[in-house]
Amino acid sequence: MLGVFVRSTLRSGLVKPGLRVRPVTRIPQRSLVHQEGLPQLPVPPLKQTCERYLAALEPIVSKEELEHTRELVEDFLKGGVGERLQSGLERRARKTDNWLSEWWMQTAYLDCRMPVAVYTSPGVVLPRMHFQDRQGQMRFAAKLIAGVLDFKRMIDTDSLPVEYLSGKPLCMDQYYRILSSCRVPGPKRDTVVNHTVGKPPLTHITVVHNFQFFVLDVSNSDGTLLTVDQLYMQLEKIWNSSLQTNKEPVGILTSQHRNTWGKAYNTLIKDKTNKESVRSIQKSIFTVCLDAPMPRVSNELYLSRVAAQVLHGGGARWNSGNRWFDKTLQFIVGEDGTCGLLYEHAPAEGPPIVFLIDYVVKFIRQRAEEVRSPMVPLAAPQKLRFNVTPQVKRDIEKAKQNMNIMVHDLDVKVLTFSHFGREVPKQHKMSPDGFVQTALQLAYFRMYRSCCSTYESASLRMFKYGRTDAIRSTTVDSLNFVQGMEDPSKQNPERLALLQRTIQTHKEMTYNAIHGQAIDRHFLGLKMLSIEDLTSMPEVFMDTSFAVAQHYNLFTSQVGSRTDCVMCVGPMVPDGYGVCYNPMDEHVNIAVTAFNSCEDTNAAKFAQAVEDALLDMRALLEDTIPAEQ
Ligand code: COA
Repeated sequence: MLGVFVRSTLRSGLVKPGLRVRPVTRIPQRSLVHQEGLPQLPVPPLKQTCERYLAALEPIVSKEELEHTRELVEDFLKGGVGERLQSGLERRARKTDNWLSEWWMQTAYLDCRMPVAVYTSPGVVLPRMHFQDRQGQMRFAAKLIAGVLDFKRMIDTDSLPVEYLSGKPLCMDQYYRILSSCRVPGPKRDTVVNHTVGKPPLTHITVVHNFQFFVLDVSNSDGTLLTVDQLYMQLEKIWNSSLQTNKEPVGILTSQHRNTWGKAYNTLIKDKTNKESVRSIQKSIFTVCLDAPMPRVSNELYLSRVAAQVLHGGGARWNSGNRWFDKTLQFIVGEDGTCGLLYEHAPAEGPPIVFLIDYVVKFIRQRAEEVRSPMVPLAAPQKLRFNVTPQVKRDIEKAKQNMNIMVHDLDVKVLTFSHFGREVPKQHKMSPDGFVQTALQLAYFRMYRSCCSTYESASLRMFKYGRTDAIRSTTVDSLNFVQGMEDPSKQNPERLALLQRTIQTHKEMTYNAIHGQAIDRHFLGLKMLSIEDLTSMPEVFMDTSFAVAQHYNLFTSQVGSRTDCVMCVGPMVPDGYGVCYNPMDEHVNIAVTAFNSCEDTNAAKFAQAVEDALLDMRALLEDTIPAEQ
């Protein structure tokens, strides 16, 4: 979903045209057959995209700007440039498995130089678990590890069930990219290394406690996986060998701006021991962060605190050094029942990650509580050594300072909206997603008396190697609705009609987006081709309207799950909000982020405005039409 290309440079060394997008991982036979049967991502008709673009601009730019852009679009369509780029894109689509996915991975993620922490890595916040001490933390972590390994078994044995969206089977490729995978910083562009291919198969995870990393081999010598009891015993050993709290937090280096980290990385791995330790982390199946207790907060603030802990670790004093932010999957388990996950976004979107969480949570619930000593003693997990030279120490100090600035800047509010869930819109024959999106529009309008460019992630996984496109939820209809709600002269039946129309339009846009007919990725493709061809950039991508359209003050995503959790992401722009939500049957989990450095934004105020908007919209429904039981 995240890492929209406004964050990236779009400049550096581009992909050679005609490159085939190949899976870097070994996909088992049955899944391969499924993959091969998936349709290719289409290139939408150029005229259609241009018309949709103009319609999307209408509520967010002035009449004059719109007129100017209309002229540029005319030129683009009739002057030959648009047609030439469109033909180039269609050629690329014929030659590749997916004309977009490689470009997307690079522009949205790997070229992006901002830190992955807060800026691109999403977190998942789980409700407080039922443990309150160190033993509980270990026991829970042991079960969690066993659960993820059980999930891995499904991947390895090719028995992962195919997912569906609107009745269509989805691309499962992302599942083969999230384990044994890690981002590696580069001077201009990062890479992602995936170690699922190779012999012998990798059998270790990394565990980090008090900033110290350990290799935990999860299989016995006969190849069987360690039991929960054995994992527990190994975690105990890790804990006991990492009681010192004065260790250098080498992991905090990974939170830096990518160029800074790229340089520090090269310095770090000059030392052979350091290089081997870094490789062990990169190759591990996943990482478990056993976090130190964080300051206690009220129940009301608890989930917001966990969201912050997951996204950045709380600062150099707390758990920010207890991470390897480049690692694709990091599970976070705190002593006070805190549980969450942080993932590096380049290889995958949220839905496969929460599917994994659903599986693991169910696995944990089914496991008995007892812990017994294993019969066979196991070798102690190996601690990873780092030689901290004066330069590495300076790099760590700088990373600590920058992390603390980031921590102070991030404003997070997790709201459990408990008045109703997705059942209410459904009873009124409305899409729950459209309902929440419209509430976000109303909340924003009430706070700012205008509307803004809004991004909602839509899955492109109906297509081979599909990732995401954007639903632009701000429409003329949504503007009419929010204005209608604020206009005292309007009656409720009229407002209701405006609401119904807004949600219907949103539904149509969702349909278009998930069927590969949205605006944003098509424009990205045309832009990328123009850069590759070294032709001058078409003016339509250079005018103010385009900049306004790309400036997503509302950067949103629904990631639904069976588990009562919510994803959280940082805002896309300095003066915007990141909003993720999980509509459950009877309540909605909503995570809002903003930056404290922006005077105009406030996560808690926005969350409150969303709550009020949802309640007012329900009141509108109940006032005007009876719900269907
Ligand atoms: N009347 C009654 N019920 C309705 C309805 C209506 N008019 N419209 C929708 N519903 C029902 C649906 O049938 C569905 O029912 P189910 O829960 O029984 O399956 C439910 O409401 C949810 O539908 P809706 O709220 O419309 O959303 P959705 O599930 O179709 O999701 C997106 C919409 C955009 C979130 C989804 O298509 C998508 O792309 N998800 C992936 C997002 C992503 O990749 N994020 C990346 C994050 S990194």
